[in-house]
Amino acid sequence: MTQRSLTDQAGYQELGSEILQNRDQHFFHPWDRPHLLDENARTVIMSGNAANVVDAEGNDLIDGPGGMWCINLGHGVEEIVEAMAEQARTMVYSTPWGVANAPSAVLCEKLAEIAPGDLNRVMLTTGGSTANDSALRFAAFYNNVLGRPEKKHFISRSNAYHGSTLLSATMSGKERDKTHVDTLSDMVTFLSAPNPYRRPAGMTTEAFCDSLIDEFEETIARIGATKIAAYIAEPVLASGGVIVPPEGYNKRMWETCRKHDILYISDEVVTGFGRLGAFFASKDVFGVEPDILISAKGLTSGYAPLGAAIISERLIENLKQACGDDPTIAFSNGYTYSGHPVACAAALKTIEIMEREDVCGHVREITPYFQSQMQTLYDIPIVGDVRGAGLMVAVEANEKANGSLEQDRAIGNRIDEHCQALGLIVRPLLNLCVLSPPLTISKTQVDDIVSRLRRGIERAHEDLVREGVVAA
Ligand SMILES: Cc1ncc(COP(=O)(O)O)c(C=O)c1O
Repeated sequence: MTQRSLTDQAGYQELGSEILQNRDQHFFHPWDRPHLLDENARTVIMSGNAANVVDAEGNDLIDGPGGMWCINLGHGVEEIVEAMAEQARTMVYSTPWGVANAPSAVLCEKLAEIAPGDLNRVMLTTGGSTANDSALRFAAFYNNVLGRPEKKHFISRSNAYHGSTLLSATMSGKERDKTHVDTLSDMVTFLSAPNPYRRPAGMTTEAFCDSLIDEFEETIARIGATKIAAYIAEPVLASGGVIVPPEGYNKRMWETCRKHDILYISDEVVTGFGRLGAFFASKDVFGVEPDILISAKGLTSGYAPLGAAIISERLIENLKQACGDDPTIAFSNGYTYSGHPVACAAALKTIEIMEREDVCGHVREITPYFQSQMQTLYDIPIVGDVRGAGLMVAVEANEKANGSLEQDRAIGNRIDEHCQALGLIVRPLLNLCVLSPPLTISKTQVDDIVSRLRRGIERAHEDLVREGVVAA
């Protein structure tokens, strides 16, 4: 059997062209729609360097979404690659059951150091979904052990995204993701999304914020605090459309949780690891000290799958007290690859580089420029809202086209196609373009992104005018 070497660049590029033609027929991709399975010619990404990737046709593209909000330090960082290779050579795997290994132990110690407050105990998992799943299971386990098994309900929000395991998908509030899939809907109540752009007409942002807190209080009163285990929330809702809540909202929601003895799970899968200019945004940006903090994606800068649920020492102490020396109680949750040594080596190197290069400081410095340049897109008639925080932004094409699912998707795809032809990958989320570039981008690269995005949206607008979908 002859085997093509992937390191042979000529052969590799040729393989890419073949995949583009007909070799992507066996991969059921995330969010695949069966009716398109046989005609979905996807861009094939072949290589990456810093903020750019190259596809199978040789096009050099700016990686606007930073992979999937994860390539925080950019592609091809030799130091991370080398750390992973070195770890693989030295010790590629050991089980997380019964024994420990050096990179995962050191990583947990480091995460406890950089996480806020008394978040000191780390459950390593394989990604964001499994970290959320583990946190939710932990909250239920905690209440079982503390002798209050009725305290099991969860509170989430419309437009939230927490993952794709059954439990994390149950907490996700994106209605359009729930058609034809089952979730454990009895376990959760959804509050309104804190989206100022969608607030009732005539209402100030402050009054909107008050109404969201009132809604939470009313929900707690209706269900009963003794029945609610936890509230789970992204500080900025990411794939729900980069929803930046009104000033003070996250802190007030946290204070409400504390008042009613409801655990606060902060899902920082996207907002963590520098995206908002801090290792974790919960405390540094929003003044929240969560009971459980979730990390993934940027944790390894996207170089390997890894997730973490970082738990408050207070909860661990309560658990220990309630368990006493009962040997039958164990939190039976974990994965073969919980804290895989090679992934932990990637995370440790990511943290080392972030600290050494003050990546968070760079994000804080460049954020005002990035966000203000994005705001210049408002003059394009099809643009309804431009919102963001740190190095994440969404441009929402308004639904003059009436907001039906297919029409939203068509607008987003149109913008995506034009931008890609102009050398910029954007991530179409229905009628939204979402960007979360590598954290190391410069002002010149911001200018480049914004000018390509502008031309892409303008061309999509021209198409829609020509087709009579929107008025000239
Ligand atoms: C906020 C948030 N939580 C959880 C997840 C799930 O993470 P993963 O895809 O690594 O399982 C995502 C993924 O996009 C996310 O954006």
